[in-house]
Amino acid sequence: MTFDKLVLASGNPGKLREFQQLCEPLGLTLLSQAALGIAEAEEPHCTFIENALAKARHASRASGLPAFADDSGICVNALGGAPGVHSARFADAAGDREAQDARNNAKLMASLAGKGDLGAHYVCVIALVRHADDPEPLIAEGRWHGKIIDTPRGDGGFGYDPYFFLPALNKTAAELPAAEKNKISHRGKALAELAVKLGRLNIVA
Ligand code: IMP
Repeated sequence: MTFDKLVLASGNPGKLREFQQLCEPLGLTLLSQAALGIAEAEEPHCTFIENALAKARHASRASGLPAFADDSGICVNALGGAPGVHSARFADAAGDREAQDARNNAKLMASLAGKGDLGAHYVCVIALVRHADDPEPLIAEGRWHGKIIDTPRGDGGFGYDPYFFLPALNKTAAELPAAEKNKISHRGKALAELAVKLGRLNIVA
């Protein structure tokens, strides 16, 4: 089975932008599930992989097309790995994405007050299914290590990026140009692994 169109099971415009840039060289056209009128799936599971698979199957079932989803988040050492799978709604679910991001970041700062180990990493797990009941989903993972700072820097990226500092670059993720973030981010790494797997299986048209 070959395909050149894939449904992205996410309504997050930040992720859509990054995945579009990342998928272009693969010759894949991304259709967002929002543009197809597909509602976002629940994310009830306690692991990234289970949530990614649930979202990918939901989008594939609703669209009748191959679909992929990522489940991602930030894991902070001093918080025992939280917010982790709950990163999108760490604070609460009210308001638009920008308002949510701002409240998530405010809660992160409050939770870290007086804490020592500010090491953190982003995680991204991608699941791709060729059809809704695909028994052999493609799975790829990426991690990106940094530390949390208490003063936001930069206006690129989205979510926790202004607080996610990369000591080796002396920049936050929000200070990186999009193409640079895509090369080294958790999402970039996961997609690179997925591209290798797709190429090996010869299923990209
Ligand atoms: P989900 O994968 O849709 O459950 O949401 C993941 C959440 O993790 C996002 O809404 C952000 O809060 C956070 N996140 C994941 N990747 C990134 C990133 O690259 N930058 C900033 N925040 C991210």
